[in-house]
Amino acid sequence: MIQKPKGTYDVYGEYGKKIKYIEKLIEALMNNYNYEYTRTPIFEPSNLFHRGVGETSDIVSKETYDFKDRGDRDMTLRPEGTAGVVRSYIENKRYGEASVPVKSWYYGPMFRYERPQSGRFREFYQFGVEVFGTNDPLMDAEVISIPVNLYRLLGLKGIKVNINSLGDTETRIKYREALLKHFEPYINDLCEDCKSRYEKNPLRILDCKVDGDKDCIKNAPRIIDYLSEESKEHFTKVQEYLDLMGIEYEVNPNIVRGLDYYTNTVFEVVADIKEFGAQNVLCGGGRYNKLVETLDGPETPGVGFALGFERLMNALEAEQTHIHLDTLDIYVIPMSENEKKVAYHICNDLRMNGFSVDIDYMNRNIKANFKQADRLNAKYVIIIGEEEVKSNILTIKNNKTKEEYKIEVDKLVDFFDENIEE
Ligand code: HAM
Repeated sequence: MIQKPKGTYDVYGEYGKKIKYIEKLIEALMNNYNYEYTRTPIFEPSNLFHRGVGETSDIVSKETYDFKDRGDRDMTLRPEGTAGVVRSYIENKRYGEASVPVKSWYYGPMFRYERPQSGRFREFYQFGVEVFGTNDPLMDAEVISIPVNLYRLLGLKGIKVNINSLGDTETRIKYREALLKHFEPYINDLCEDCKSRYEKNPLRILDCKVDGDKDCIKNAPRIIDYLSEESKEHFTKVQEYLDLMGIEYEVNPNIVRGLDYYTNTVFEVVADIKEFGAQNVLCGGGRYNKLVETLDGPETPGVGFALGFERLMNALEAEQTHIHLDTLDIYVIPMSENEKKVAYHICNDLRMNGFSVDIDYMNRNIKANFKQADRLNAKYVIIIGEEEVKSNILTIKNNKTKEEYKIEVDKLVDFFDENIEE
């Protein structure tokens, strides 16, 4: 038997229904925020991620799915969405559009060659947004509000928002010096990766998965103490807007994020649910005011986030959050082969009028058909026998109350319009 690749999963049944429900909710939410849907390729030239996400990030240095295509080009399955959306923004010259800011959202699979465990997959789905063209702290707060509001809409309670600022270029230069000075006496105690991080990007030492618990990391200087006046002011305003929006948060100076492109605001939403497991970061994001330039576009501020769909599903499951799932409106039962054509015609007509309808394809007897209607959670059942075909009056049963109605074929749509709630 051929099995799925390690770190991937199949979707079917109830889980699939839940996913579709949440996808619809996301789409509606993004409409309400007036963000536009964007889609970029699942594979991109490898150097997009090397230059975009950063050579020193674990995601690029250790976790990408790289391959050569048949034309000998280096390609990479996208490990995240931001780099591709930025590439698309630049390539399609969206910076020239009159309507600023450009606010986009996306949803799709991402690929990282990580060690699979609960909440950590090699193929996983992200819902995210990227906003270009404004450095207004209101936008940072709005971006943070999106996942928080999605979690709220879904009824998820155990969440915690952590924010931090990584400052601007001025901040970074000063902070880099401070980190180099701090880690100098400890270099030999650090892992091999951190030794090279010390040279290339000492900030990355702070989120090392090997050395993370060492005192020299815990006692390292905090970037928040090195913020320039401008970055400080920006960060204060983000917090004021979050207060205004009624979003609870904590300033957590340890949030440095695992990607290289961030400037100023960064944030993560973590699951605050008992026994949730180690992979508790539900979503993360922040501002990246230099990324468009890094990828050869004009100077353009950007901010965004992405949330892991599987971790969201795990959190809903852990909290046993009830998700209202659509059930079947109508199940049609032809009493015999003779009524099948008429029954299918009615079934199709109702489907085209917006109802979800299923029919017996298995020539079951009436008892087995009612069982099937129950399995499908049908709200109504239509029974079509010889008599019904002759008279054009159908027998309809409310599958819950068991009440019966006789309705003319022409009045069916009106009947269901009145009786089936959205
Ligand atoms: P990230 O923190 O690497 O950020 O990923 C965002 C979210 O994706 C994580 O918080 C987590 O929920 C989920 N995630 C990441 N890796 C896995 C995995 N292996 N399995 C399951 N879920 C995973 C980014 O990707 C940035 N592009 C976010 C961003 C957008 N920043 C600005 N704009």
